[in-house]
Formats: sequence, structure tokens, C-alpha cells
Amino acid sequence: MIILVGGEKGGSGKSCIAQNLAIFLAVDKIATVLLVDCDAQGTTADWIKLRNNNLNALPIDCVQLNGKIRNQLLGYNSQYQYVIVDCGSQDMLALRSTLSSADLAMLPMRPKRRDLKTLVHLDEMVQSCKMVNQQLEAHIVFTQCPTQPNQQARVNDAKASASLFDIPIASEILHERHIYDDSEESGLSVLESEPKGKAADELRNLFTEIVKHDERSSPELSMHYA
Ligand SMILES: Nc1ncnc2c1ncn2[C@@H]1O[C@H](COP(=O)(O)OP(=O)(O)OP(=O)(O)O)[C@@H](O)[C@H]1O
Ligand SMILES: [Mg+2]
Repeated sequence: MIILVGGEKGGSGKSCIAQNLAIFLAVDKIATVLLVDCDAQGTTADWIKLRNNNLNALPIDCVQLNGKIRNQLLGYNSQYQYVIVDCGSQDMLALRSTLSSADLAMLPMRPKRRDLKTLVHLDEMVQSCKMVNQQLEAHIVFTQCPTQPNQQARVNDAKASASLFDIPIASEILHERHIYDDSEESGLSVLESEPKGKAADELRNLFTEIVKHDERSSPELSMHYA
């Protein structure tokens, strides 16, 4: 399954979500996972290097790709159960290529006007890619939402604005929490650093809502890890 974590706004949390999703699938679901970093800055590839030097962390495979990557993604999709692509607007060709081959797309969005404005173009792009890739299921994911009760109206307003587009909104939202910054420093995920914390609960709920994992898809692999 190819899963895009992408979008056009910088800093919305694409890399964080892609990394945590990789760990959720590889560690919790015992699946084979490849992370694809399309960002020239190499945020996710750097995180993987840190992680793979940590003997206590399960190593994750990662490649850096750019441009027209559709055929490469389809090739990797036959080798791994999950291919997770972290892609922003610096590489629009890679973003389009991934949308035209992905099964799922998670589009992180902060409840902010500048993030929401990107939905106009993003929605057009998703709908045009769906013409060639009918299996694509895209979801808007609200991230870095304020935790203060007096700020909830902002989140509700943002959801109302996003609902005017044709992309469904994930019901689970992620809140702004320091553990994201703290955990990435050591190549770990939020799920590993604070597995019982609120951020980990939100991430697990989100991934369970969006990624319908098939436990039967790799019985020999599950036996290997059992
Ligand atoms: N839910 C959250 N709460 C608090 N901080 C967060 C959260 N999600 C992400 N961050 C922080 O926001 C910053 C940007 O996150 P990230 O690198 O994942 O965004 P991005 O969309 O991949 O950015 P870019 O467009 O530069 O690739 C990081 O410092 C990260 O730790
Ligand atoms: Mg990034």
C-alpha cells in the first residue's frame, strides 16, 4: 500500500506524521515499511540515520527520491507492505506522481488561514489525480491544534472551511504537544518516547481510522517476529 503524507504548506507536520506512521505500522502492526523522503532537506532521511544508529530502535528502511517517482513507488510497493511517502511542495512532480499511484493520502493542515488556503490547489490536484488513480482515498488531517479550551472555536472554524472541499476530514485531530519535538531529536517516534501519552493516543486513533491494516497480509512475517 502506498501512503502519501503530503501537502503544500511548509511546517504542517508532514514529516512527523510520516515518521510516526512508519513506526506504528512497523512496530505495532509488525509490517514491512519503506519510508520515502522527497524533501531535498532530507528531514526524514536524517531522522532515519539517527534512528538506525540507536541499537534499541527497530531499524526502518528509507530512500530519498525526487521528480517522476511513480514507477519507482510501484516497484517498492511490491517489495514492502507499506510505502510511506513524505512529500511537500518543493517537489510538485513527486507530489503529483505519488498522488497518481497512492492508495491513501494524508494531508496535514494546521487550523490556520494560510494552511487552509492551500486546499484550493490541493483539492484540484487530488481530484485530477483521481481521474487516473481511482483507488486514491485522501483525507485532510488537522494537526498542531491548540489544546486550550478557549481556542476550540478556531479548530471548528477551520473544519467548517475545509468541509467546503471534496476531501474528507479525518475525525481524529492532533494537538500541539512538545513530545513531537522532543522525540524526533533521538530518532524515536512519539509512540515510543511516550507510548501512554495523549499525543500517542491521538496518533494511534488517527492511523487506525485511516489505514485499514490487514493482519492477514503477511502471515509468514508475523510468525517471524512472534
Ligand atoms: N502536533 C505537533 N505538536 C507540536 N509540534 C509539532 C507537531 N507536529 C509537528 N510539530 C513540529 O513542527 C515542526 C515541523 O514539523 P515537520 O517537520 O513534521 O513539518 P513538515 O510539514 O514536514 O515541514 P516541511 O514542509 O519543512 O517539510 C517540527 O519542529 C515538529 O516537531
Ligand atoms: Mg518535512
